[in-house]
Amino acid sequence: MNEMRAALYDRYGPPEVLYEGRRPKPTAAPGQVLVRVHATSVNGGELHVRAGKVRLLTGTIDRGFPKPMGVDFTGEVAATGPDVSTYRPGDRVWGLLPRRFGAAAEFVAVDARQLAPAPATVDLVQAAALPAAGTTAITALRDKAHLQPGERLLVRGASGGVGSVAVQLGRVYGAHVTALANPKHREALQDLGAHEVLDYRTTTPADLPRYDVVLDTVGTEFPAYRDRLTRSGRMVAISFDTDHPFTSLAYSSAPRSSSAAKSTSSAATQNRPYWPNCPA
Ligand SMILES: NC(=O)c1ccc[n+]([C@@H]2O[C@H](COP(=O)([O-])OP(=O)(O)OC[C@H]3O[C@@H](n4cnc5c(N)ncnc54)[C@H](OP(=O)(O)O)[C@@H]3O)[C@@H](O)[C@H]2O)c1
Repeated sequence: MNEMRAALYDRYGPPEVLYEGRRPKPTAAPGQVLVRVHATSVNGGELHVRAGKVRLLTGTIDRGFPKPMGVDFTGEVAATGPDVSTYRPGDRVWGLLPRRFGAAAEFVAVDARQLAPAPATVDLVQAAALPAAGTTAITALRDKAHLQPGERLLVRGASGGVGSVAVQLGRVYGAHVTALANPKHREALQDLGAHEVLDYRTTTPADLPRYDVVLDTVGTEFPAYRDRLTRSGRMVAISFDTDHPFTSLAYSSAPRSSSAAKSTSSAATQNRPYWPNCPA
């Protein structure tokens, strides 16, 4: 009873390294809620973590093996800590684990403040795809880039978890949305609201016009995409090239060379990779 099933891995590698193992079942400490997990999801960054490509970064977050998986979760409240009155057993909730993995398990214990009632109109399995990707996209476009109606937005990696939400948000915020993606997703991206869809395999940065906001979820060629900004443009980069992490991070921190691509005063933050409140 004090153990639960969880997805674990004992070495870095492909999906085959994952197995169903046992971990201690958490309990709800003061201020916490114990959630019986109904569904979790796999975010793009987790693949790099599991493959060991970013072990210099993640090793400090979660040392040793076996390592757990999963950030997003949906489920129902199993128990509450002594001082939690906002949730009751049986409530449908969703959330994400802050700066740690472990949602791919039967239970998670999280601070009540990090939970929200699950949406009533979305299936709990589908909803589990949204917490990390959705909060990343909304933080990037609304809080970091301050995207305004009528601005031109480029979403690089538009068919991915974060990109597909960003396309929808960009449209809702009244921007003109260009999606840079694999063309097999053209129709789906148009359905999500993209005004135009460009093929990332045949489009180079030099082919592109200038944009007020570039959201880069891919992480390669930072300077070339940064140079596609208008004078007041803002770039939010949420990823880096895992094959060349140090070059990539150095590029992202360097001042821009093109005066035509001058940024706003807050671009010093926006031109560095922005890491949201999760390790994925
Ligand atoms: N998910 C999160 O909450 C989160 C949070 C913070 C940071 N991040 C980082 O953001 C990155 C993306 O995450 P994600 O969850 O959105 O990943 P994802 O779902 O795997 O999506 C990545 C997308 O990028 C596309 N892509 C690959 N190369 C491309 C290129 N050269 N140009 C344009 N698109 C390209 C892929 O397209 P095809 O495979 O279809 O060709 C795929 O649709 C990851 O590196 C992750 O570490 C993610």
